[in-house]
Amino acid sequence: MNNPITISANSAEQFGQQVVSWYHQQGRKHFPWQQDKTPYRVWISEIMLQQTQVATVIPYYQRFMASFPTITDLANADEDVVLHHWTGLGYYARARNLHKAAKIMVSDFKGLFPIEIEQVIALPGIGRSTAGAILSLSLKQHHPILDGNVKRVLARSYLVEGYNGLSKFDKALWQLSEQLTPAIETDSFNQAMMDLGATVCTRSKPTCPLCPVEQSCLAKAGEQQMNYPQKKPKKKIPEKKTIMVIPRILNERTNRVLMEKRPPTGIWGGLWCFHEIDELTEMDELLANLSLKAISSHTMTEFRHTFSHFHLDITPVLVDCEQLELTEINEPNQQKWYDLHQGLNVGLAASTQKLLTLLSD
Ligand code: ADE
Repeated sequence: MNNPITISANSAEQFGQQVVSWYHQQGRKHFPWQQDKTPYRVWISEIMLQQTQVATVIPYYQRFMASFPTITDLANADEDVVLHHWTGLGYYARARNLHKAAKIMVSDFKGLFPIEIEQVIALPGIGRSTAGAILSLSLKQHHPILDGNVKRVLARSYLVEGYNGLSKFDKALWQLSEQLTPAIETDSFNQAMMDLGATVCTRSKPTCPLCPVEQSCLAKAGEQQMNYPQKKPKKKIPEKKTIMVIPRILNERTNRVLMEKRPPTGIWGGLWCFHEIDELTEMDELLANLSLKAISSHTMTEFRHTFSHFHLDITPVLVDCEQLELTEINEPNQQKWYDLHQGLNVGLAASTQKLLTLLSD
């Protein structure tokens, strides 16, 4: 497969200079996380930017920093409140890991962001590339990075065979990134490589004339851009089904639906969702356990939510209920009546949010 690619010091230096000077002329410098750069601020942005577009991230980032301006504020926050700031961004493990890592920084690093790369990589949710990005962008330390965008630029420039996630491919690209990343202006170089991948060397429509390394790009030389990186062989992902039960108490005073907090691990871990059952025959038992009596029920339109590893077909059932007398929810941290007019300051799964919006209309 891929033998290590060795680049002469001269060509590495030239590549670095071309990329850095492009950054000074064309790079993006005005995002909120690029002002007043600290490891904490850059960390939050890097985590949000994983799997999420810049335009989506900006308002989430601003709300997050306004609520949690310091590591200690984040560590001391309630997990529900942290997850609430993530509602709609997806991949909630990112938010839970931010919260856990902030607590570790308070307990082990006096509330400061650690500055040794090994310490940073040891924190939950931070891999080698993200650690390199945080320490180079905020403190100008010399570390290579390798996110999906950088992989595409390097795979095309040096015709590296393979696809994202294939270990030989990733290994060959790390070796390239190590050789090419300059010791001075590492911050500009790393930011430029991410920007080049995101805006110029795009997956389906690269604009090569705008690229500072077009002249040395091996894919461009053979018009092979679209063949690098190769497509990851697609696994067919399984389809699962679930019924979401939405008990509602609707009268002239309230319009409330019952939600439960999911266990901390697994899909939607720690988020507030509706109760799930596999079969409609389980409905009576569920309602009885919740001390509710059904008055009428209505099956809503099925919809699909796709996770990275399976499709989930969700059938929501809205059940108008009355509460049996003298029953209070005895686990307020696990069950809540959600008032559709007031909302709640908690993390909601995207599918829950979608149903709440439908119910509020
Ligand atoms: N994606 C991940 N990190 C990024 C960054 N710093 N700038 C632009 N896109 C990114």
